[in-house]
Amino acid sequence: MGTVALVTGASSGLGEGFARELARRGADLVLVARRQARLEALAVDLAEKFGTVSTVIPLDLAAPGAVAELVTDLTTRDIRVGTLVNSAGFATVGNFVDSDAAREAEQIALNVQALTLLTRELLPDLVATARRAPTGAALMNLASTAAFQAVPRMSVYAASKAYVLSFTESLWYETRGTGLKVTAVCPGLVATEFAGVAQRTTPAGERPRRSLSVDEVVGSTFAALDRAATPPLIVNGARNRMLTRVSAFAPRRAVLAVLGRRRRS
Ligand SMILES: NC(=O)c1ccc[n+]([C@@H]2O[C@H](COP(=O)([O-])OP(=O)(O)OC[C@H]3O[C@@H](n4cnc5c(N)ncnc54)[C@H](OP(=O)(O)O)[C@@H]3O)[C@@H](O)[C@H]2O)c1
Repeated sequence: MGTVALVTGASSGLGEGFARELARRGADLVLVARRQARLEALAVDLAEKFGTVSTVIPLDLAAPGAVAELVTDLTTRDIRVGTLVNSAGFATVGNFVDSDAAREAEQIALNVQALTLLTRELLPDLVATARRAPTGAALMNLASTAAFQAVPRMSVYAASKAYVLSFTESLWYETRGTGLKVTAVCPGLVATEFAGVAQRTTPAGERPRRSLSVDEVVGSTFAALDRAATPPLIVNGARNRMLTRVSAFAPRRAVLAVLGRRRRS
């Protein structure tokens, strides 16, 4: 790709998977998340396997001023980003009335605010890169199948991902003709640390039922991006594509009832 790709949430799961694929394709990386040791280990691994240079920036993106701090850091290091993957995100689970207000605020700050502000800061460089070298410029925002309908007991998470999907589709339209590949990545359940962070338990060492692997999500996303026309959204996995179509056509109350029952356990 011959460009610099910034990946948030690169210390785990999908972010790490996207970073690996981008490195394999020849991009240098900027790796952002809070766990510095993990990012540094990934940087070493990517250098050994693919000969890429990675810049590690440990940062809590939900903290006030974090995006401004990140952009200042990039400017100081003279790094211009051509591809952005906004993968950092988490979910809370439970009835909203019982939720921890600070944790909900953190979820909105990360899933919505940081993603929006970082995109705003880097979009001019992404578009400029696309105009110079169209194959080296992309914006991938991690949404979810939760973006397509309300999800009882994951109310703030589903709303945050509906925001990401809507926001990204608008940017897809606004940047048409620039060469920038913009897409919202919408996986269903993926076997990462996500469920553990959300405190949805799976027996130790067991992959959650019907989950996709990181490689499946990354592979299907890049397969779509490699097409001449980038779709504004990608639903990963045939079963997830079928379910999102059903939920688009079924009455909203019926979808709510089904998801409400499903998430009681
Ligand atoms: N796994 C799924 O089932 C699934 C399904 C649909 C969509 N998604 C979406 O995919 C994205 C990636 O999730 P994942 O499955 O890869 O989960 P994951 O394995 O838990 O990874 C989440 C990443 O976000 C980073 N992160 C969390 N809080 C952060 C903060 N305050 N500041 C900076 N980085 C932070 C974590 O790094 P640190 O802890 O080191 O900061 C980690 O690298 C999320 O946006 C998620 O909503 C996941």
